[in-house]
This record gives sequence, C-alpha cells and structure tokens, in this order.
Amino acid sequence: MLIAQLSDLHVGGARYDEELLRAAIAEVNAAKPDLVVVAGDISDEGYPDQYRDAKQELDEIECPNVVLVPGNHDARHVGYLYFEETLGERGSQQRLELGGSSVALVAVDSSKPDLDQGEIGRESYRWIEEGFAGDADLGVFVCHHHLMPIPGTGRERNQVLDAGDALSLLRRLGVDLVLSGHRHVPYVWPVAGMLIVHSGTASTLRTRGFPHPAYNLIRVDEERIAVELRIPGGEAQSLGDYPREWPPELSTRHRDVLVRGMRGTPLAND
Ligand SMILES: [Fe+2]
Ligand SMILES: [Fe+2]
Repeated sequence: MLIAQLSDLHVGGARYDEELLRAAIAEVNAAKPDLVVVAGDISDEGYPDQYRDAKQELDEIECPNVVLVPGNHDARHVGYLYFEETLGERGSQQRLELGGSSVALVAVDSSKPDLDQGEIGRESYRWIEEGFAGDADLGVFVCHHHLMPIPGTGRERNQVLDAGDALSLLRRLGVDLVLSGHRHVPYVWPVAGMLIVHSGTASTLRTRGFPHPAYNLIRVDEERIAVELRIPGGEAQSLGDYPREWPPELSTRHRDVLVRGMRGTPLAND
C-alpha cells in the first residue's frame, strides 16, 4: 500500500510556486498511490479564487482516493465555507480497501477560524472513536496541526490545544499512522504504537528547519512502514523504515493512568 502525504500548498501565497505543485502531483501520479492525503493549508488565505486555483491543480491527482482537511490558513476570512463549497466536507470517516488491506481513516478539521492554533475538540472524540470502531488492518488519522512539537520550527506557539488528550485517545483506539502538516518541516515521531508523520510544504518556499519544499510517500507492507521524503523535482531521502507491529510493552495502549482511564472510561465519554 502506498500513501502520498502532501500539505501546506498555500495556493495564492507570496512564496507559492505552482510549478512545484505540478511537479509534486506529476510525481505522485507516477508513483500510483492507493491514497492521497492533503493535510491542510491548501489555500494561503482562504479566499474563493485561491480555492478555485487549488481545485484546478488538485483535480490533476489521478488517485481515486483523495482525502483533504483544512488548515489554519484555509479557515481565514470564512475560508472554511469556501473550502466546503469548492473541495467538499472538512472532515471524513472512511473504510477503504487499499492494496489488499482494510483501512480505517478519520480526517478531522483541526482549524479554528482566524486562529493559528489547532484543536481536535472534545466534542469530536466520540465521532473519532466511532470511526475507528471494529476491525481494520491499518488505522489512519489525519489533521492539519501537529500533535507533537516539531524541531527546527522556532518556538512552540500553535500546537493542537488538546494534543495530550487527542494522543491518548488515538493510542487507545489503536491508530497506526497520524498524518499532519502545518509546521513546514518533514518529521516523524514514533510514539507509543503510532507513527506521527508530518509533511513539509509541498509547493512553497516558506521553509524552516528543512530548507526545501517536500512531501512524503509512505509505503505500508505486511511488516514495515517506510516513510520517504520527496523534494518536488528533486531528491528523495528516507525518514525511517519502521516495524509495523510495536511490541506491546512499547505501544502500552492500555496503560494510561488518567483519572478516566483508571475508571475504564474512555476520553470520548468524558
Ligand atoms: Fe502551512
Ligand atoms: Fe498551518
């Protein structure tokens, strides 16, 4: 199974380069992924013309499974409304059959209008839990903002406000992959049974600790998950090749000492 992860296109922004986006999409199409995730900041300021231009470019993606969520830039200037008009729902739950495996996918809008901070929101926890209920070979969670701080991005300012609760929830639900963007630095944190994978900016020169535009190709096979960073029109490098199954003593999915956890009540009921 191959997943392409792009984010932070910032269509219409001052440092946006449509040739980078076209190169990235052409490379993604050539790789023939089973799933393409575009993890937010699709437009630079949420304006309708930026969404129209973005849709025109994104329509070139040939993969039948494309999942989009908004980022903080998309939610500016009531951009969340134009996102819905142009690109569809801001969140989704899906069951997919990809490369012979069943995939549970939950994509959440972590943006708040005109704020740079993200929040999953307690009101979404039950919906997330429902999205991962039942058996699936792979659990994938998508949101724009980072649940873990990212090095090379300056001082932490706008992480997900409820990142701790959200991480605990996702760990309990057996999520395997968390796909996010926002900080424009490609980076992987393996944490307690989950690979938390961040993509850089696919099509801008708004870079930070990693000085190139970038997107990720994630290969999932029976035993491994390999994350490859790709520079549009340029080189590739590995962000790690990880075992798919974590030893239970490292994933520790049921070891939360939270008050609710100790009472056997999941955070979704809190
Ligand atoms: Fe961004
Ligand atoms: Fe962002």
